[in-house]
Parts: sequence; C-alpha cells; structure tokens
Amino acid sequence: MSKLRLGVNIDHVATIRNARGGHFPDPVRAAKLAVAAGADGITAHLREDRRHISDHDIKRLAREIPLPLNLEMAATEEMLEIALCHKPNACCLVPERREELTTEGGLDVASARGHLGPYVKALKGKGIRVSMFIDPDKAQLDAAAEIGADIVELHTGAYCDAMGAARGTALARIAESVEYGAALGLEIHAGHGLSFETVGEIAALQGIVELNIGHFLVGEAIFTGLESSIRQMRVLMDEARGIARSDASDAKSA
Ligand code: PXP
Repeated sequence: MSKLRLGVNIDHVATIRNARGGHFPDPVRAAKLAVAAGADGITAHLREDRRHISDHDIKRLAREIPLPLNLEMAATEEMLEIALCHKPNACCLVPERREELTTEGGLDVASARGHLGPYVKALKGKGIRVSMFIDPDKAQLDAAAEIGADIVELHTGAYCDAMGAARGTALARIAESVEYGAALGLEIHAGHGLSFETVGEIAALQGIVELNIGHFLVGEAIFTGLESSIRQMRVLMDEARGIARSDASDAKSA
C-alpha cells in the first residue's frame, strides 16, 4: 500500500488574519504546526486580489518551511515572476475569477493550451514542478499531458457537494480520471472541499499520490486545534489506504 501525501493548505489562516488586518493568526506559524502534525507539504494560493495569502507570506513560507511548498497561482505574468523568484517545489496553475468565493471549477487546459504552454515551460525551466488543477475529464487530462504538466490535481468539489447517487457518479468520474491520467504519465493529486466525511473514498483511490486540504482543517481547528485536525485527517487517509494504525503513527513520527 502506498502512503498518500497530505498537503496542508493554510490560506484560511490568512483569511482570518486579514479580517482584522495586523499579524494574527500567522499562516507561517500554522505551516510550522502542520509540519509537526505530519503534513507532507504546505500549499498556499497567492490570489491576484491578495484576499488571504500575501506576497510576504510566500516569501516566508519559501524560506522558513522545510517541507515542499506548492504555490497555487493563476497563469499571469505577475504570478510567474513571483514563482520564479521564490522557486517553490511546485506550482499548481488554477483558474481565478475575482468574484468567486473559492476556486469553483478546474482550469480549461484544453481551450487554453496556447496560453498555458509557455508558463509550463518557464516554470519547468527553473526546476519547478508544474501541476494543473482540472476537473476529472479526459480531454483536460490529455491537454495537460500534451503541454508538459508533471502533475494534475483533480477537483473534488463536485464529489464533495454531491448527495446520494450523484456522489457515486462523481466518484466514478474521479476514479476513471486517476487511472487515465496515471497511464498518461501524470502524477495524480486531488483536492477541494475534502473533510473527515469525504476524504475516505478519495484516499482509497490508490493512484492518487497527494491530497491538498485546507478549509475544513482550519475550520475544524476552531474546535479541536490545528494539530489535532491534521492528525485526524492523516489517520483517516492512512486507514483508507489500508495502512494499519500503528504504521500510521510510525509514519507521523518519522
Ligand atoms: N487545491 C486547490 C487547487 C485549491 O484551489 C484549493 C482551494 O484553495 C484546495 C486544493 C483546497 O481546498 P479546500 O480549502 O476546500 O480544502
């Protein structure tokens, strides 16, 4: 059984900080806590409107956090310059609309190959792995592979929002995309909207290498603390992978 990596997204620690301005709570402190709680990577989205993570946060995360940094960003010249300056381990290209509450859908790679291709080349040229946040769709997977992405992150939002039979359909779509994308040579990640309730079925898909989870973990932290919410997520991921609890706690302390 392969261990599934957990990327902890700390954007919403910055959302709370920004609600009042000032410095508290500090997302970099949250990232350090995530390291201690067994995260395998830190994810942060530098949005064009800077509604949560700031440029200074990215600079500090790149310098102070020992884990791989996954920088989510829109494919714009401004963001490319920032990424090339801080050289995160990976950049995940995401669609961005200013009026949206969160990243509502995947990137339409199939329609924007010409625009996205040079970003992939520029980032990879500096040794940064490139990921594309896409809906679980074969045409998008084909396009991502074609323009040289290393990774695709499959959008799990529709699955998490679905009820009843629709959830099964959404899960089947993700499962099919995991197989299809892996056969194209893409590393498969997944994320968006995952919670204690929804993570199990996604984590059980063996072809997925990494999950990126944020909003639920930060929300749950209000009640149980961030370290506890991350540890509990880790346990659920390991259980879904069929990794025994004792192995899971070994993995945490390693
Ligand atoms: N992956 C990507 C590409 C995202 O844009 C987000 C949301 O910022 C996440 C993962 C994490 O989603 P959530 O905060 O709902 O767990």
